[in-house]
Amino acid sequence: MTEFNLAPLDTKTIGKRIVYYKKVTSTNDLAWLEIANGAEDGLVVIAGEQMKGRGRFGRNWVSPTRKGIWLSVALKPRLPVDKMFSLMAIGALAVADVLKSHKLEATIRWPNDVVINGKKIAGIIIETKFISKEPEAAVMGVGMNVNIAQEELPEEIKDIATSALAEKGYEMAIQPLTEELIIRLDYWYQLLKDKQDNVINDAWRNYSAVLNRMVSLRSKDCAYQGKAVDLDPCKGIAIEQSDGTIKWWQGDEVELLRPI
Ligand code: BTN
Repeated sequence: MTEFNLAPLDTKTIGKRIVYYKKVTSTNDLAWLEIANGAEDGLVVIAGEQMKGRGRFGRNWVSPTRKGIWLSVALKPRLPVDKMFSLMAIGALAVADVLKSHKLEATIRWPNDVVINGKKIAGIIIETKFISKEPEAAVMGVGMNVNIAQEELPEEIKDIATSALAEKGYEMAIQPLTEELIIRLDYWYQLLKDKQDNVINDAWRNYSAVLNRMVSLRSKDCAYQGKAVDLDPCKGIAIEQSDGTIKWWQGDEVELLRPI
């Protein structure tokens, strides 16, 4: 990618306006700023590089110059609180679809990691703002490693992360990939707005890397293992415990370590 062409996309909501910055702290910060200034539903903020890209659980998201897709979408979905969790599912679905269309067989490791052969290639973060318990706005941040060579990945994630380059052996053009991603995000977002929850849930479960597998989880005060017997974007993950009982966990309560 030399410079980004900012032409709006012929989509219903997401990508009708796209703003691009060479270097930002975090595209999520910029998307929140746009929302504060009255941004419309679906505005996309893209950066060539992030200095303080953020992931879930307060982690840093390494986002070197033009080596990946670093974007955020400003959303005003007018959804009930429980449906807001579905935003994470549609983000992961869009990423997995794009990778699949390039013959990269990705799966979704609950709730939001997109993985190839167990290694994370992309992640989604949803930040929300509520006014008197009503969801008012959200920012969906998507980070996808595209042209980062395996040896360029930070030491602490080298063994657990990957990129399109590492998987395919050659670089991919970032701009067309970004446009494909936005088009898929718009597609799934439309289904969500049209209350096609079953379609979304089925697709999300079909991509699952964890359903019906033993997984290990870590919560604030304990770590344990169990079989993932069900998934639901709103209810979370259902884990069968050693005594046979089923417990549902939300993504902000537990962190899923790798399937085992
Ligand atoms: C995760 O898996 O923990 C989520 C990672 C999300 C990273 C993206 S990169 C673009 C956007 N801006 C950020 O600061 N974070 C998200």
